[in-house]
Amino acid sequence: MKGKLDRQMSQNWADSELSSKELQSLIRFCATQVGLSYTNTKKTLLQTRIRKRQVELGFDTLSQYLNYVLPLPAKHPEKLNLIDVLTTNTTSFFREAHHFDVLIERVVSAFLKNPNTKRHDKFRVWSAGCSIGAEPYSLAMVLKDFKETHHQFNFEIVANDICLRALEVAKNGVYPHSEVEKIDIHLRKKYLLRNKKSDKVKVCADLMNTVTFHHYNMLREPPPFKGDFDAIFCRNVMIYFSEQDNHELFKLFYSALKPDSYLLIGHSETMQSEFIQGHKGFKALGGSVYQKVK
Ligand SMILES: C[S@@+](CC[C@H](N)C(=O)[O-])C[C@H]1O[C@@H](n2cnc3c(N)ncnc32)[C@H](O)[C@@H]1O
Repeated sequence: MKGKLDRQMSQNWADSELSSKELQSLIRFCATQVGLSYTNTKKTLLQTRIRKRQVELGFDTLSQYLNYVLPLPAKHPEKLNLIDVLTTNTTSFFREAHHFDVLIERVVSAFLKNPNTKRHDKFRVWSAGCSIGAEPYSLAMVLKDFKETHHQFNFEIVANDICLRALEVAKNGVYPHSEVEKIDIHLRKKYLLRNKKSDKVKVCADLMNTVTFHHYNMLREPPPFKGDFDAIFCRNVMIYFSEQDNHELFKLFYSALKPDSYLLIGHSETMQSEFIQGHKGFKALGGSVYQKVK
């Protein structure tokens, strides 16, 4: 009898649905507080994502969880948990690998040749929407490798994400071996420590020290770090935002870059036309690489 009741209860949990009014409240929260642009067609996805929190907190229905979480203050831990489950953190090391060649061959090379670069200037890169750290650590590996043959060259990487859970992984720098298999063997040997017993790898301390991680919503908060970047990598992030938010983000990136520096976006993303037409914007170099025009 008890088993039947349990089954019924878990059935109820799994079946509870958001009303259209509740769905609208959730979509509005995503758009206004986070910057994520969801539509009604994503109802199932949104429900699946927030169900994790409903079940973990022991609420009987999705509505009960939503009515609890939405009125909470912005920095309440459960509000942050809600944001965590609403974000998509898909990433991989050396994703869209061509960009890492561009970084060395074009961007670093321009930095070194620039007569305005002083001897102690650091080459600065921003990994915007860094997820679990695969992107900033890929940047760190190629830059550190470059430094081995160019001792004067110094760099720093700033990385941010809105998802605390992803940032925790990033800061720990521990990954399953399967996630790093595709990294060039000579980089793996130099910068990743293998734990054969657990089949995990850890990013070496020297590499970790080159990246600073920030919990920062780049659509709704002022940047907690200085600009003057030589390159910004913001890839596979803007696909989740509205046109208007992307417009503001392109303006932010423009002001955060040094003159003539570079913005690299995802291959499935496009720069808004007003930013590549005017005299103050970006020049498209192909392959989702853009150069700031003064
Ligand atoms: C699909 S991942 C892309 C990761 C990496 N850039 C790459 O290309 O592999 C998108 C990341 O953007 C983050 N994100 C979404 N909205 C954000 C915001 N407003 N501010 C900062 N990060 C955000 C998500 O949490 C997620 O980790």
